Formats: sequence, C-alpha cells, structure tokens
Amino acid sequence: MKDKLVLPLGSLIPFNICVNQYINRYQFIALSQRNKLKKFADILRFSNVYENFNPLSPLLQNGDVIDIDMKGKWNAEHFKKDAKICLELACGRGEYSVALAERYPKTHFIGLDIKGARIWQGAKKAIESKFDNVAFVRARIENIPSFFAKNEVSEMWITFPDPFLRDSKENRRLTSHNFLDRYLPFLRPDNVLHLKTDSPELYEFTLESLGAFEKATIIKHFDDIYSLPELPHPDLEFKTYYEKMHLANSKTIKYVQFHLDVD
Ligand SMILES: C[S@@+](CC[C@H](N)C(=O)[O-])C[C@H]1O[C@@H](n2cnc3c(N)ncnc32)[C@H](O)[C@@H]1O
Repeated sequence: MKDKLVLPLGSLIPFNICVNQYINRYQFIALSQRNKLKKFADILRFSNVYENFNPLSPLLQNGDVIDIDMKGKWNAEHFKKDAKICLELACGRGEYSVALAERYPKTHFIGLDIKGARIWQGAKKAIESKFDNVAFVRARIENIPSFFAKNEVSEMWITFPDPFLRDSKENRRLTSHNFLDRYLPFLRPDNVLHLKTDSPELYEFTLESLGAFEKATIIKHFDDIYSLPELPHPDLEFKTYYEKMHLANSKTIKYVQFHLDVD
C-alpha cells in the first residue's frame, strides 16, 4: 500500500500570501475603525443628530450644546414649527426617516438607533438634501420615555428590529410589553404604529404580544406583503438596507399595523 502524502493545511498556502492576508485584514480593521471614529466625530457636529450616553439621564448632546432636555420641545426648539411627529425606531441608516421626510415635508421625523456610524448615513443624506424636517437620536430605545412628552408623537415605524430570538432576550424585542409600556406616555390618542420585519418569529411574537396587551389593537397584519395585489400601506414601498438583504435571500416581508390606547 502506498503511503498517502498528507500536507498540513498551512503548508498549502505560501507563507508570503498568509502574511499579506493577515496584513490586509489588519489594515481593513484599522481602516474601518478609523472610518467609524470619523463618523462618530462628524455626528457630534451634525445639527440634526442628538446623542444620549447615560441611560439614567434624559439629557441629550447636539454639537456644542450639551445636556439639552428635548422632551416636549422637539417642534419648538429643533424644528421651529408645529407639526405632527413620527418616529422611526431601530432606524439604522435612517432610510425610512429620510424617505418619509421627502414624501411628507409638513411632518417631522425622528429616527432612533444606538449605532452612530449607521445614523451618520441618514443624517448626512438629510443635510445634503436640505431636509429640515428630519432629525436623529442616538440612544438606547429603552430610554425613549425620557425624550418625548405626553401627546408629542403621532406615529411610529419600527423597521426590521433585531428579533432577539432567544427566550431570555424576549424583553429586548421592540414589540414586547416591556417596550409597549414605554411608548404609552408620549403617544397621541390617534396614534398608528407600524412594524416591518422579515422574521416569522418576531411577527408571531408581536401578534401574541399585542393580543395580550390590554391597550393594543391590531389594525391589520400580513405575513407576505409583496404577495398581495397592492401594498397595504403606500409607505411600505420604501426599502431599508436590511430589507434589501432579506429580499435578496428570498425572505418574505411581514407587516403589522397597530394602535395603543392612551389615557
Ligand atoms: C437589523 S438592524 C435594522 C436597521 C434598519 N432599520 C434597516 O432596516 O436597515 C436593527 C437596528 O436596531 C438597533 N437597535 C436594536 N436594539 C436597540 C435598542 N435597544 N436601542 C437602540 N437601537 C437598537 C441596532 O443598532 C440596529 O441598527
């Protein structure tokens, strides 16, 4: 029987290629880190971005202005006129906030997310497009009641939030009772909320969570919006970064429209 020649895996790849790959990877990480730091510095200067780093405090930073309490003052202090306010939760790159701001110039939009480098993209686009009816808050959504006052918000889009599939993380889902309770203090009585997701688990969870929440009414829900003859809401046509990825992976897109009764 002939002996088989077994080469260790590393020896199949010439040493110089290994080193180059290592250097390229290191350079890539260093570059993307530098890019992120630049974006963090940029958004500190953007007039349309507010940041909160202390979950125990309602105060926000905006450019050189530190520690501003915007609760109840978004229209008067930031937008400088009265209008309906619509939020985008888990806004990521802010595609919905920016697209809605363009479509509805008389409505004010505020996108919230914790990731600064993502918010940077939406905020920059809004500045370049001169959309003065859109702003962003970089903060944890858990802290949302600190930033908005009673009756301040009419509508909310929750766009492709992380589904947090593990049972132990159920409370982190943005349609869990933990979060629904946090939305009640600032919603107007005629509020409408929209969830758009690719996750069958989050879709089913949301229907159950709303069903068991005394103050919630499900207005409509669909488990595959693009299979319908017509979109159930015209603004569902906007596609976010994550939605495009999910569609490319042949996932179906789900939608729940609901209302919360507020006192
Ligand atoms: C899957 S991404 C979707 C982003 C965007 N809506 C889209 O569709 O492209 C989920 C986003 O939710 C944000 N997020 C998740 N939990 C959050 C929390 N508790 N507070 C703030 N942002 C949160 C993440 O930072 C992330 O950008």
